[in-house]
Amino acid sequence: EPKPSIVGTGAYLPAKVLRNSDLESMVDTSDRWIVERTGIQERRIAAEKECPSDMGTAAALMALERAGLTPEDLDLIIVATTTADTLFPSTACQIQQKIGARKVPAFDLQAACSGFLYGLVMAHHLVALGTYRTILVVGAEKLSSIVNWSDRNTCVLFGDGAGAVIIQQSATGGRLLAHDLGADGSQGQVLTVPAGGSRLPITAENVGEGLQFIQMVGKTVFRLAIDAMESTARTCLNKVGLPVDKVDYVIPHQANMRIIELLATRLDLPLKRFFIHLERYGNTSAACIPIALHEALTAGNIQPGEKILLIAFGGGLTWASALLEW
Ligand code: ACO
Repeated sequence: EPKPSIVGTGAYLPAKVLRNSDLESMVDTSDRWIVERTGIQERRIAAEKECPSDMGTAAALMALERAGLTPEDLDLIIVATTTADTLFPSTACQIQQKIGARKVPAFDLQAACSGFLYGLVMAHHLVALGTYRTILVVGAEKLSSIVNWSDRNTCVLFGDGAGAVIIQQSATGGRLLAHDLGADGSQGQVLTVPAGGSRLPITAENVGEGLQFIQMVGKTVFRLAIDAMESTARTCLNKVGLPVDKVDYVIPHQANMRIIELLATRLDLPLKRFFIHLERYGNTSAACIPIALHEALTAGNIQPGEKILLIAFGGGLTWASALLEW
């Protein structure tokens, strides 16, 4: 019986690889520190003129092709990003134009690293309601543009990339069984880009203080991330009464290997059930989960009938989880 389903996935990673050894010559750090404290070995960095709309376009076209669809089939475009090409026009409008879609609604969604799952849940429900038939959801980020390359506390963590999914009614594909979305604005200050919005515009003074870059209280974010990811996962599974050990595969946000390991311990699941790519890409924020989903599907890690739990956490603070069945 047809249900709203993920019928195609795509991913794009920029060609340029930045290794930990490259960072050793940029800031006071070491490959050993980065690997031990984060698990990250390298990350991809977009070319100077390569923007989230370009990376998102490549991922979207791949997802459409894998779904056997064309851009004209799309009825709605949602792009999750914290590093939009421009404040406006939205990255979604630029992707609409670049892929050659019709003049369908297109908008950006900002929920930091949780943005893709927010978009995925919205898209499933809009298709279920019959409001739109075929929806493109993209996560695309150029975090290298908001990273302070002289701050060793943050510059080792992030990377660039894009992932995309297509959702429409189908008898096959990934279906949403349950979800949990949440946010806590009272804790927002632990992970911010203070300047570049209307509160602190891009002025020489603000730029001089580096306020256009990511500011993060790493230890606090680490602790809050584990608590939020465990709790959103349990809330999501409780909605359908699924015991944690019945989850076949977990795709967690890829911020830090130690966060993923602790999450596995807290959920009492073996680490081998977790998809991990952070050693290759670092934290790509809203792009990380759709890239991981695409990689897991194309690597054959997800089989028909399996239950997959996606778990995100990010600035806002925001968190999200989605239980899918393939
Ligand atoms: N190289 C070498 N030393 C470093 C580096 C580095 N790259 N970065 C920090 N250090 C130093 C610190 O200055 C500190 O030195 P000090 O003790 O002399 O002050 C020391 O290493 C230890 O620093 P800690 O902050 O205690 O290191 P910790 O083990 O907490 O790891 C990290 C830091 C990796 C940032 C960790 O806290 C973390 O991953 N936090 C969560 C980050 C995260 O998830 N962010 C994003 C989530 S949401 C989103 O994706 C936008």
